[in-house]
Amino acid sequence: MKKITVLAGDGIGPEIMASAIAVLQATASNYEQNFQFNNQLFGGAGIEASGRALPEATLQACYDADAILLGAIGGAIGSPWEKAKQTPEQGLLALRKALNLFANIRPICVPDALLPLSPVKEAIVKGTDFIVVRELTSGIYFGEPRQLQETKAYDTCRYTETEIARIAHKAFQLAQTRRKKVTSVDKANVLATSKLWRKVVTDVAKDYPDCTLEHQLVDSCAMRIVQQPTDFDVIVTENLFGDILSDEASVLPGTLGVLPSASHSENGVSLYEPIHGSAPDIAGKNCANPASMILSAALMLRQSFQEEKMAQSIEDAVFAVMNEGVVTPDLGGNAKTDEFTAAVIKKMQS
Ligand code: NAD
Ligand code: IPM
Ligand code: MN
Repeated sequence: MKKITVLAGDGIGPEIMASAIAVLQATASNYEQNFQFNNQLFGGAGIEASGRALPEATLQACYDADAILLGAIGGAIGSPWEKAKQTPEQGLLALRKALNLFANIRPICVPDALLPLSPVKEAIVKGTDFIVVRELTSGIYFGEPRQLQETKAYDTCRYTETEIARIAHKAFQLAQTRRKKVTSVDKANVLATSKLWRKVVTDVAKDYPDCTLEHQLVDSCAMRIVQQPTDFDVIVTENLFGDILSDEASVLPGTLGVLPSASHSENGVSLYEPIHGSAPDIAGKNCANPASMILSAALMLRQSFQEEKMAQSIEDAVFAVMNEGVVTPDLGGNAKTDEFTAAVIKKMQS
């Protein structure tokens, strides 16, 4: 029995979470798996119930779980949640910090099924398969001091050698299982934290002589991601750059709605979530693409439960269904969220 804490969250979160759970439930018995889902309030839903985005009971349920599935949190611009004692975004950051989820793995793939749907020319995107390894518990998201005043505001970007080294090791270890190339992305021509980042990553690389390391500045990397995406194998970068570059990379498959992620600590529980947000503009319409959440569940099966075959069969079914033209509106189709989900389940059972 695997205990999964489920944080459906806000906006499209509950809709796409329902899809992922339906897929897991429909196929569990084929793989002699048994899941126990423990739903907990998080984000705006937590604020509505208790005034806080990350209620104590939710955090406890996360500590107690074998894995965590998260939909998305957050409201539209101007949402009353922005005035809460703990906003949805602060709740998310607090959860990542509490669980020490420093390594955020964001795979960016363009399977052949998606080639005709990509806004980028096929000759450029074909074969795209890289991973953004995003540092998730430090940098400007967490640095102190920070202050917002009436006429001035500041944030602090901080990194320690230890924080950089541990994420760099993750990136090289991942590269060793792949094409053995690491691109470290920074702004070392300007930022002190980036100068340290570059030095530490260069030192860590000496432990991995089978891998190559290149450094690239974040601005030109942003361009190269859409111009030569097949150049990349593993990109390792700090918290804010990783956030932005991975959303940019969603242009390659054509939508944020197909990109999953996994967040890991040294030894504790891992969390799996799409890279996108709560998409308030399409929430409640049964038209969100649930692939990002279904594929996040597949990553959970592979990385937390070593269920490689089950994970692969889910991934295959998702892309086979898309290949047959069953796609949601973000990819130019007219399939509803629940129709797409039903098609994936049917494909897995056929
Ligand atoms: P967003 O990722 O929610 O949406 C960006 C665009 O992508 C929107 O047009 C949306 O409709 C579309 N989109 C996203 N996911 C989709 C899907 N599965 N299917 C189809 N279309 C999809 O970004 P945003 O609008 O800037 O932010 C909305 C809220 O989400 C904010 O409150 C933000 O703080 C929050 N957010 C949360 C997370 C998270 O929970 N991890 C991540 C990012 C943003
Ligand atoms: C993400 C989101 C979060 C981040 C926000 C909601 C705090 O954009 O998970 O990518 O910036 O990390
Ligand atoms: Mn983001």
